[in-house]
Amino acid sequence: MKISSLLRTATVLLLALTLACGGGSTTSTTTTPPPQTLRQVAAAHNILVGAAADSPYLSDPSYAAVLGTEYSQLQAENEMKFGIIHPGIGTYDFTGGDALVAFAQAHTMVVRGHTLVWHNQVPAWVTSGGYTSPQLSTILQNHITTVMQHYAGQVYAWDVVNEAFNDDGTIRDTIWYDQPGIGFAGMGTETIEQSLTWARAADTNAKLFYNDYNDETMNVKSDAIYAMAQDFKTRGVPLDGIGFQFHVDLTFDDPNALASVATNFQRFAALGLEIHITELDIRLQDSSAASLNAQAKLYGELAAICVQQPNCKVFQTWGFTDKYSWIPGFFPGWGWALPFDANYQKKPAYTSILNAL
Ligand code: XIL
Repeated sequence: MKISSLLRTATVLLLALTLACGGGSTTSTTTTPPPQTLRQVAAAHNILVGAAADSPYLSDPSYAAVLGTEYSQLQAENEMKFGIIHPGIGTYDFTGGDALVAFAQAHTMVVRGHTLVWHNQVPAWVTSGGYTSPQLSTILQNHITTVMQHYAGQVYAWDVVNEAFNDDGTIRDTIWYDQPGIGFAGMGTETIEQSLTWARAADTNAKLFYNDYNDETMNVKSDAIYAMAQDFKTRGVPLDGIGFQFHVDLTFDDPNALASVATNFQRFAALGLEIHITELDIRLQDSSAASLNAQAKLYGELAAICVQQPNCKVFQTWGFTDKYSWIPGFFPGWGWALPFDANYQKKPAYTSILNAL
């Protein structure tokens, strides 16, 4: 990760030098500098600009071309989740995840892993297996260990635990926590701690993240996650950063909310944690010019907050083209959430992110 980001920085410097030399040369050749890409501008701030993707889309040439040139980080939207990667007892299927890793490596991108411990997309063999807590504990430890070791050296950071908190700051009832749980039901954040500890043992080089939504601003949920993070840092529980999802709409474009994001990022940064924007999309109810411009404004504001926070290392959207966004399927009536339209044309949001970065 460090070498690849150094390489990227060196590439950007070389490009800048080449352009500067060309500009100062006395020859009359007027070569137009190639347009900057998101990954080029972000590299100057040491920010990875990411997109979630799944491997079936890679066979769409336009999809592959945009993903491979504009983005420096790739994350599986689905193909590293429990249900896909571990579909049966003792059965692992790394096909999709491996294809994503191969694509990323071929395009000098890094890979972020998502996700090991979550209440959704858990296969029926687990949820309906009638397992006791000790059995579930073994299942989860084996899952974390096998998946992380398969991708050791290839996936630099993992969303180890995803969405374990309710919006009121309590721990969500899940199969891993208390239904029946892996053995810590009723005790707060121990399930998360145990998962992180297993993850560190599985791959000592991977950065370990807690990832969630509705915790982007200062609120009761982010307070609870902050208290956990502070406790983990104090006691040496392995935790390297927090992923903030950012599935938002235009109501998020409020000066108080944006200021609150910056304050929230800063308190986590002060614990020595990395901040990753992991699943950003800004859903709209129409694709009018006014909506697209308002969306662009908010994308730019969020990118600027990341640039201004030294510990913000990742600016990632949940997909990149409206063609394959999860939004219309999960928020009926909503869509147009990403920086490229369904024909891979750059939207105002793209330009706004580019300028902010
Ligand atoms: C979503 C995917 O985008 C969909 O394709 C899938 O059907 C359901 O999951 N928070 C997360 C992501 O952490 O894993 C979810 O991804 C979106 C919400």
